[in-house]
Order: sequence, then C-alpha cells, then structure tokens
Amino acid sequence: MLRSLLLLLSRQSWLRRWMETSPAADRLTSRFIAGSTLERELAVCTRLQAEGILATLDHLGESVTSLEDAAAARDDYLAALDRLDALHLPATVSVKLTQLGLDFSEDACRANVERLVERAHAMNSRVEIDMESSEYVDRTLRLVSALHARYASVRAVIQSYLYRSESDIEALCRQGIPVRLCKGAYREPPDVAFPKKKDVDANYVRLMIQLLDRGTCPALATHDVQMLRRAITHVRERNIAPDRFEFQMLYGVGRDLQRRLVAEGFRIRLYVPYGNAWYPYFMRRLAERPANVLFLARNLLKN
Ligand code: FDA
Repeated sequence: MLRSLLLLLSRQSWLRRWMETSPAADRLTSRFIAGSTLERELAVCTRLQAEGILATLDHLGESVTSLEDAAAARDDYLAALDRLDALHLPATVSVKLTQLGLDFSEDACRANVERLVERAHAMNSRVEIDMESSEYVDRTLRLVSALHARYASVRAVIQSYLYRSESDIEALCRQGIPVRLCKGAYREPPDVAFPKKKDVDANYVRLMIQLLDRGTCPALATHDVQMLRRAITHVRERNIAPDRFEFQMLYGVGRDLQRRLVAEGFRIRLYVPYGNAWYPYFMRRLAERPANVLFLARNLLKN
C-alpha cells in the first residue's frame, strides 16, 4: 500500500520540481546520493576504492524531454568517463536508455550509447545498461546485443520479477553478454511480472544459479541476505572463483553487509548516483523499504 503510494508519487512532476529545488535536498538525499556534482561523485568513488569497493556511476536523470537533452546526458557521461580514466578509477558507468533518447528515436539513442561504449572500451571499462519498465525490455536488449557484438564492454540488466527473464538470460549467456541480475523496481502488471514477492525471490535464486553456472562475469545486485547466502553456498560448492562474478549494491543500502562481503574476499561494486535529478530514483528507494520514510523524516527534523 505505502509502496504503491510512493511509486505513484515518484511519477508526479509537480512534487518532483518542488523536492528537487528544495533547500533541504542535500540533507534529504545524502544517504543514497553522492552529491549534485561529478566531483562529489568522484570523491565518494575514491573513498570507496580505498575500502576495496568498486563503483558504477549513475548520473541521475531519466525520460528526457528532447534529443538535445539526451545529447547533453551523453556528454555528461563522456566527461565522467574522461575523469575516471584520468584518476585511474576502475569504475563503470550505468545509464538509462530513456535518458539517452530512447523515447524519441532508437537510432539516436543507440548512437549516444555507442559513443559511451566506445569510450569505455578504450579505457577497459564498461557501460551497464539499466533496465527500466517492461515496455523497454525488447528495445534495450536489442541495443545491448548490437553493441556487445561490436565492442563488448557492456552489461545488460535482467529483473527477476519478469516472467520472460529466464529465456532472456539464456539468450544473453549464449552471446557471452555479462548480466546484472536484480529483482526489479517498477510497478508491473500481473500478466508480465510475478505479483508475489516470494515468487520474485524464488525466480531470483533460479536465475542467479543459471548465471553463476553459465554466465559471463555476472553481477548479483541485491541486498537480500537470503539471496547472498544462497549465492555464496553455490559458488563454494562449485568452486567458482570470486573473480568470476561480483555482488552489486546501492550506495547507502546495506552498508554493514557490503563491508562483510569485502572482508570475506568477494568483489563488490556499489551503484553510486549523483546529480540534481534525484527525485524518481530516491522515491523508488523509499518504496523498496518503507522504513526509509522514517529515516527521511528524522533527517528532516534534525537541525
Ligand atoms: P529486497 O527488496 O527483498 O530487500 C532485501 C533487504 O534489503 C530488505 O529487507 C532491506 O533490509 C534491504 N533493502 C532493500 N532495498 C532497500 C532500500 N532502498 N533501503 C534500505 N534497505 C533496503 N532495478 C531495476 O528495475 N532496474 C535496474 O537496472 C536496477 N539496477 C540496480 C542496480 C543495483 C546495483 C542494485 C542493488 C539494484 C538495482 N535495481 C534495479 C533495484 C532492484 O531491482 C531492487 O528494487 C532493489 O535492489 C531492492 O531489492 P533487493 O534485491 O535488495 O531485495
């Protein structure tokens, strides 16, 4: 109920405008978002690297309103890749195709992403293509396959709440495309996605094992301790080396868990967002764990 309300609010543009320009924005968001500028993002990534944690940068923004905005988003990412290269930070970038123009033109979007993948390839990094709501899945996977065939240096994202994901993973494994597996963060109808969390979780375990056994450099993106335990048992049973896969988590979520995994010798990468357009991302994080609303309220009342 609260989850649905938060997801509904995440799509309200009036509330978004008000929140994103609020003087309390920094105080509100600092747990989940590195800051509004690239330099603040890089400072967080450098600090994480010193703790043995990798990063993937997310320049916040989705569903741009013109191809000019999409080109600007591409240029922001190119600038981020240049800075990562200069600092020798072994980070990747995560992009949303709607931010790079997918709602306007598949060709223009592909050209934008291709510039990023070319740059990432040249510096031995990777572009991780986030998965958005189910209407985008076919177009996203088409673009990922085409870019992988040309450069490699991409990673697809698959959501365990979708019924189709097992066959999508099969196809991605056949092509040797790395996959990030997550549960899925959007509101989907019951004809495309499991409505019950226990089915989403059970499917996560199935897909995770499919990826660990047959995938290329899979990334298991979850904070769910049951899933993590299951993954660790599986890799130990099968003697899968810790450098053949990675765990991924969100910046600010499950911080103790992150440190424990590093101490146990696992590779872990955090998804670290930055920028001014934080509202939809932030609201999805609240929806995932309504207790975060209390955390937010406490922060607002401080000072
Ligand atoms: P689950 O929701 O079952 O939570 C397990 C436990 O984790 C909770 O009990 C709680 O303790 C903790 N937790 C989870 N979320 C929390 C939060 N926001 N705050 C505090 N605690 C929290 N989705 C998508 O649709 N497309 C994408 O491209 C991506 N990309 C992506 C990258 C990375 C690195 C991660 C970690 C996640 C994504 N996601 C995503 C989001 C994903 O689909 C999912 O919504 C969240 O990860 C929450 O699901 P969990 O697997 O953590 O499990």
